[in-house]
Amino acid sequence: MKVKSMSRRDYLKLLGTSGALAAVGANAACTSGPKEAPKQAAEGPGEPASVVADRERRMKWWHAAKFGLFINYGLYSIIGQHEWAMEEEGIPVSQYELLAKHFLPKPGVTMEWIKLGKAAGMKYAVMDTKHHEGFCLFDSKLTDYCAPRQACGRDLVREYVEAARAEGLRVGFYYSLMDWHHPDGARCATDEAARKRFVAYTHGLVRELMTNYGKIDILWYDVDWPLTPEQWESKKMNDMVFKLQPDIIVNNRTGVGGDFSTPEQHIQAAEKGRAWETCMTMNDSWGYQWADDDWKSPKTIVRNLIMCARGGGNYLLNIGPKPDGSVPEEEARTLEAVGKWMSRNGPTIYEAEPFEGGGAPFANFTRKGNTLYVHVHFWPANTPAANWLAFFRPTTVVAIGGLQTKVKSARLFASGKKVDFRQDDISVQFTGLPNKAPDDPVTVIEVECESEPTVNGLYVREHRKRYKVGTIES
Ligand code: GLC
Repeated sequence: MKVKSMSRRDYLKLLGTSGALAAVGANAACTSGPKEAPKQAAEGPGEPASVVADRERRMKWWHAAKFGLFINYGLYSIIGQHEWAMEEEGIPVSQYELLAKHFLPKPGVTMEWIKLGKAAGMKYAVMDTKHHEGFCLFDSKLTDYCAPRQACGRDLVREYVEAARAEGLRVGFYYSLMDWHHPDGARCATDEAARKRFVAYTHGLVRELMTNYGKIDILWYDVDWPLTPEQWESKKMNDMVFKLQPDIIVNNRTGVGGDFSTPEQHIQAAEKGRAWETCMTMNDSWGYQWADDDWKSPKTIVRNLIMCARGGGNYLLNIGPKPDGSVPEEEARTLEAVGKWMSRNGPTIYEAEPFEGGGAPFANFTRKGNTLYVHVHFWPANTPAANWLAFFRPTTVVAIGGLQTKVKSARLFASGKKVDFRQDDISVQFTGLPNKAPDDPVTVIEVECESEPTVNGLYVREHRKRYKVGTIES
């Protein structure tokens, strides 16, 4: 099995944005704002204070949620070759449409997804309502190309909303502006009459979604090809969305700012003061791709979640259900493992405030106030060298160089067991630890510090005591 993890380069890239991380933290500390709907979704710097305050109010739950479930499911799941198959393989519309006659999700699938997400520690979900293929999973008066009016005969969006509400997860809708099926979906770029029709259709579908399913928490737009935001009339569309759903948050994929940025398949903090959410697949495909076996391990997923939390961002993790809606075994197993870890260590993620500074090759950090959480993903024992190394490191030691505060106490987060430590100017060493990692896939050491903990990655290099060349002190 191939294990994917963040490259050192990506890690350094994120660390390089620590200024932005701090700013996101300020954003995360939300206050209550006015109740009225904002005039328009976020447009970026220079916004009136009332718009900023309203966004903070709407996003408060989202910042605390940290972890969400993305569900990419549609006709493409039947082909099982990625959600771009229609385009990438040049499948004619007349052929592709036939899939709607065979799209038969088994009863109760949406509840299966939601329960899996909830058990994994996810607090919200975002499900396809219409992907690039143009097929609507909801009931629409504007097209027959929708699940309730085809073989499926059910409004999957309604089932999903009901399942999510029943389980206490926040409800998000994914909606692709790009449409490979609608006759005006491409020619709208060059034919004004087609543009008007297609924009009316798009705004109409979004209106249905915002009107027919009660309170919706997130609108997650995707791919704005082939129009500009002006041509999509994105501002007008979002004004309508906020009028119908004053508490909703929208992403940035209409080409206008939106409330949060959406780095895809990588972890990257947004610029100062800007909320962000990394969306990521568990293998390499959003939609079901039966032959894609490039699975991330539970450890990689947990490490990614830690990385997002330390940067003040959210992690939206995808499942690509099979044709009948059941979740691929690998995804279900991984979510279960992540859920077990979250049930022991969740507060170190949910309550995390942005952490400033460096990392370690064997651990990452989150922070809450003056408490540092050391997330050890490579337990520093059991190395082949452990025995002969005992002359200078007699027990298993987790050591952190460059910590810029004094440690007051430490314990293993999951068990509460006290951890001994010693600290000098250069590093802190947690000692007396077991040879085998106490938790799996990541062990968290909770460290109470005197002040807000940061790690200066250059501190050891600059301040360590050095000797003359050629001497070894005894
Ligand atoms: C991309 C893909 C789309 C996928 C989405 C999720 O935009 O085109 O298929 O659902 O990313 O972020």
